[in-house]
Amino acid sequence: MAFPARLGVGLVLATLSVGCRAADPFAQSNLRATPKRGAVVAEHPLAAQVGVTILNMGGNAADAAVATALALAVVYPQAGNLGGGGFALWVPHEGDPWSLDFRETTPSGYGTDLYLDDKGEVVGHRSVRTPLGVGVPGSPQGLFELYKVHGSKSLTFASLCAPAIALARDGFTVDAWLARDLRREPARKRLMSDPAARGLFYPGGDALAEGEILVQPALARTLERYARGGQAAFYKGPTAEALVQTLKEADARQGGIVGDRHMSAQDLASYRVKVRKPLVGWFRGHQIISMGPPSSGGLALLQVLAILDGFPLDDDRNRVRRDRDLGVAVPAEECGLSARSAHWLVEAMRRAFADRAQHLGDPDFVEVPVDRLLAPEWIADRRISIGERSDPGVQAWRSAAPKESFQTTHLSVIDKEGNAVSMTTTLNTTFGSGIMVGDAGFLLNNELDDFSLAPGVPNTYGLVGAEANRLLPGKRPLSSMTPTVIREGGGRVSLVIGSPGGPRIITSVIQVILRVLVYEQTLEDAISAPRLHQQWKPEWTRMEGGWPASLLETMENQHGQELRVEPDNKFGSVQAILIPDTRVPEAVSDPRRGGRAAVQD
Ligand code: GLY
Repeated sequence: MAFPARLGVGLVLATLSVGCRAADPFAQSNLRATPKRGAVVAEHPLAAQVGVTILNMGGNAADAAVATALALAVVYPQAGNLGGGGFALWVPHEGDPWSLDFRETTPSGYGTDLYLDDKGEVVGHRSVRTPLGVGVPGSPQGLFELYKVHGSKSLTFASLCAPAIALARDGFTVDAWLARDLRREPARKRLMSDPAARGLFYPGGDALAEGEILVQPALARTLERYARGGQAAFYKGPTAEALVQTLKEADARQGGIVGDRHMSAQDLASYRVKVRKPLVGWFRGHQIISMGPPSSGGLALLQVLAILDGFPLDDDRNRVRRDRDLGVAVPAEECGLSARSAHWLVEAMRRAFADRAQHLGDPDFVEVPVDRLLAPEWIADRRISIGERSDPGVQAWRSAAPKESFQTTHLSVIDKEGNAVSMTTTLNTTFGSGIMVGDAGFLLNNELDDFSLAPGVPNTYGLVGAEANRLLPGKRPLSSMTPTVIREGGGRVSLVIGSPGGPRIITSVIQVILRVLVYEQTLEDAISAPRLHQQWKPEWTRMEGGWPASLLETMENQHGQELRVEPDNKFGSVQAILIPDTRVPEAVSDPRRGGRAAVQD
């Protein structure tokens, strides 16, 4: 296998060679060592446990990821799904990484005109809580494809579906997170206005409470058909018919905006996942593998790391080392990041999100200049434009700060052979559109809100976009999902990571990677540390609670940063596995949410 060349300091876009195979350069080194155990981390303890059970049965990382994702579709309806989409990254212990795009597509009858009122203004809620938000789901085909291409084949597809079917048929105990999310607006109102969702989640009119048992017989039947027939049993036949009928009825209830342009059986039958070339770059001797367009996550991650690589982050790291050597306690929340580094980080994020808004979209429809955006000259240009003061740019558009939500979910898996899966999947906002396919028991996404419906008009996350991300039939909306795997020196997998959180996915993943790779924090400390978020528009930077007051003051006074501290908000929910030199995986589910890490005995 040939590895991408590393050109000097910094980060380069690399091309993976598929030509003749050279001798394995790592054969004799610990860069080829396998982990001592497999591990799974996901946003629900039952789902993580399902993944480890599959590993214990002899399944590999792909098998475990599929079973975990299906379990999430049952026990984590806020984001786990059959009716949504996502991205999966498969990074084998040896060989080329592979990425799968199972993002939703726009139904063939939809056009931006459907989202506008008589005056040509975007009617915001149409892309969020009506059938106009619902893209053709990709998850059922995506999970089946991952199993088919990379599953161990020691287990049948039906056996990967079996735990999810049992959880849906026999029920599971509602946890505090689901109970809370069902009570929260605007998801509650959305779900209450859908007859099937109301019946399932609000029996008698009240939200299910923590400790109650949620049984989902319709979903169990859908999963049974899927287990028997694979992806075809979702995109054709009773499940597909129920989905189309549900959207027709929802449109009629909401005034018949879509009319006869609704999602059709043909839209479902013609849905296809796409195998995409992963984005690969380097940062300080670590090979970073992440998702390319139509996700913006990998590109923004690589850009930010490359820009930052030119700044003396090591000064901060060395200060921490010195303090530790002198026995001075260094608070975990501060660890490594001085106000100056935080300022550089904000400015690097600002620049990456500006490129995102202008240039990124579905590569099947627009040319995304990935190489140019990662070119050393462009990165250098971006880097030298960062000075001592904040640089919010000239377009002073402002939106209300987007509300925090956990709409998306991430799972990370490593198996004992050293293969990794990093998968992020979503319904978009929490519980998606709130529209439930009653006869089939699953919720539908509102992913089409990720398009830029009109130039400069922000979506639900306050993100603006341009022509590159304009809605067109068959097109996939731009995403922020950032499933990522890091290989130490290009050899063994050393970190599997990802997060939910809309655009905060990108910035959460960046900050944890920096804290682990540069600031030498443990994975647990790196994930627990407070986060910041900058996305170009709006120009201010959002700060979680917990940052030292002195850092905030210096960022504001010395670097001119406009900061908004949001003590009640949490950014992202990182699910990551670190494989250190001991080869015993350290799996951490973000304490911001109720997920769980499960490691094989
Ligand atoms: N729907 C959130 C994302 O794809 O970024």
